[in-house]
Amino acid sequence: MTRAIFPDVIERLAQHFEVESNQDDCVFTADELTQKMRDMDGVFTTPSERISVQEIAASPTLKAICNMAVGYNNIDVDAATRAGIMVTNTPDVLNETTADFAWALLLATARRVTESGHWLRAGKWQKWRYDTFLGADVHGATLGLIGMGRIGQAIAHRSIGFDMRVIYHNRSRVADHLEVRANNAQYVSKEDLLRTADHIVLALPYSPQSHHTIGAAELAMMKTTATLVNIARGGIVDDAALIVALRANRIAAAGLDVFENEPAFDPAFLTLPNVVLTPHIGSASESTRRAMANRAADNLIAALTGGTPPNILNKV
Ligand code: 8YV
Repeated sequence: MTRAIFPDVIERLAQHFEVESNQDDCVFTADELTQKMRDMDGVFTTPSERISVQEIAASPTLKAICNMAVGYNNIDVDAATRAGIMVTNTPDVLNETTADFAWALLLATARRVTESGHWLRAGKWQKWRYDTFLGADVHGATLGLIGMGRIGQAIAHRSIGFDMRVIYHNRSRVADHLEVRANNAQYVSKEDLLRTADHIVLALPYSPQSHHTIGAAELAMMKTTATLVNIARGGIVDDAALIVALRANRIAAAGLDVFENEPAFDPAFLTLPNVVLTPHIGSASESTRRAMANRAADNLIAALTGGTPPNILNKV
């Protein structure tokens, strides 16, 4: 187990296996991780660990890599498959919690919740003014979703209560009944979405194809009053281009839970009032993080006891 995890989940695994855990939560270097993984049958990982060809080649006994996350861009799945190693993730259990958080960021961003809170704490609230922290309405606006998988659908479904119109762009159109549940979401081109949406939420997986889905050109197409929320992965947005756009008020504001190179992030974000920043906590409710850890454990137990893991990602 590469990182600190709920002790009861470790105990559960210890009923089946000899467990080497890391409750001190040291973040291993690539070389340390390679060392630690040597002679293991299975590894319980989080997205902080990059499992590349190097770790896989150095772990001849390895049979399963079980990631505690729905995203698995930290793992070279092709290399694992070639080595006959199962790879699993933890989908579904985090859909609703992550969708809730996308709304927390969207509302905070559009209605300037953190910016005004900082101002109040700084003792600047001396009098009422008609134009103090005017934001953008969420109700009745057009919500643009890039990515309409399970999390995107749960985000769109919540927009019914805000009387929003939903447009989306995805690798492909989703089935009719899913569009209906997603507040009658309408499939549009990426360009139409960028030009039309009042609030854009990114809910797509990271891959080389989705790298910098939002860069300078895309930001230039957005309305100057628009907001952008990223609850997906760092690297989907070109952070440097976003900083330039926010500084120039090219778009109104952004809400970011993920960053390129996190937990390091561009310190220029800290100088911008019009960005809401959170430390990758989209799935961080007590019950959901427990469900994710237990799902990763289910996958590991199945993989190493001759079963088929419920969330296997590759054919080995
Ligand atoms: C995780 C996530 O909390 O599931 C994912 O892909 O990004 C988050 O839910 C985080 O990656 C740590 O496991």
